[in-house]
Amino acid sequence: MKDTQTPIPCSVPLTRRKFVGVIAAVGVSAVLGEALLTYPPWLDYGKQEQRIWTTPFRTGAAVPAQMREIIRYATLAPSGHNTQPWKFAVQGDTIHILPDLSRRLPAVDPRDRELWISLGCALENLTLAANAAGYAAEATLPTPEVDLIRVQLTRSALPCPLFEAIPYRQNNRSLYDGRVVASDEIKKIEAVRSNAGITTQIFTDNSHKESIIEYIKSGDRKQFGDPAFVAELISWIRFNQPEALRSRDGLYTRCTGSPDVPRWLGRRFLAASTAGQQADTSAQKARSSSGLLVISAAQDDKQHWIETGRLYERLALTMTAADIQGAFLNQPAEVPELRSQLQSYLQLGTALPQLVLRFGHGPALPHSLRRPASDVLV
Ligand SMILES: Cc1cc2nc3c(=O)[nH]c(=O)nc-3n(C[C@H](O)[C@H](O)[C@H](O)COP(=O)(O)O)c2cc1C
Repeated sequence: MKDTQTPIPCSVPLTRRKFVGVIAAVGVSAVLGEALLTYPPWLDYGKQEQRIWTTPFRTGAAVPAQMREIIRYATLAPSGHNTQPWKFAVQGDTIHILPDLSRRLPAVDPRDRELWISLGCALENLTLAANAAGYAAEATLPTPEVDLIRVQLTRSALPCPLFEAIPYRQNNRSLYDGRVVASDEIKKIEAVRSNAGITTQIFTDNSHKESIIEYIKSGDRKQFGDPAFVAELISWIRFNQPEALRSRDGLYTRCTGSPDVPRWLGRRFLAASTAGQQADTSAQKARSSSGLLVISAAQDDKQHWIETGRLYERLALTMTAADIQGAFLNQPAEVPELRSQLQSYLQLGTALPQLVLRFGHGPALPHSLRRPASDVLV
């Protein structure tokens, strides 16, 4: 019978020093492994970014390829959390833009208001790209029976001055340099109008700016105090290059001016940052800007949300063409009680604020990625 009490002989006795050495080696390998996973030298965000944003628009190709190009340009539009909540279907000379409800943001956007604004932005890009390809584009907005945007293309030569600005536009979240946007440039922004019940108000004086900043700060405090909002935000943050390149959607940290970090560290950092810190950062960014701009709509329904998106995209492209940067600070339009307070403060009557943004001059940041047209075509 075997003596079960006999110790198994160990060929290399593990001294304390060796034990410490083994632990150190395991630790270094784990750190190197993590670093390699977070910063793999074979991945190149810049190359992918360049491919998405600087591949020239190909006109004059056969019709199916042209439709694909028009759709590719539509996907360069902004969207809440870069969810890209759209699908496209081509039927002859008609393009349908459909909501992708699997990409909803139930915590920050429970009524899909910003989802439809995002589709409005995509519609505006699609219209400009169609014009550049030699088509007039007539949009039919959704009805209670038909929940999509239908765009009918017909051959026509139309000017499209904002088209060239599409690959340069970005929601620029950097700290701006405080320089004032010249009044003739402000006039260009004011001249971007809609006759669909959408209005813009621009504030460059400190008194109005500071009042609106208070609503923005209250919005941050409310949102970052809500675990559902924070969890949803974290699920759309791409904390490092591999994550950003894998999904080609969401909010990549470097596009907000922050470095790449492993996911576990980014999550921990975000969860530990207080609502007060977020509010202070937003206020600092707003104060670094030349002005604030609020877009409001006469009614709060799908048609007006789409028209809001269309107007916003024209505004953003106009600013891009004039070398003016802009970024959203939508918190007061997203938190219901703040939205009605802002409505009263801006004396909007029954109209409601839809989007709040800042504008000014600041350094460019990397562009966010987009999924390829093949991923959004149905
Ligand atoms: C309807 C809508 C709401 C948005 N809300 C915010 C916001 O509150 N804060 C913010 O920093 N960006 C906001 N964005 C900007 C998106 O995050 C941005 O468009 C997306 O990350 C893609 O980046 P890009 O616009 O630079 O291409 C919003 C965009 C849209 C269309």
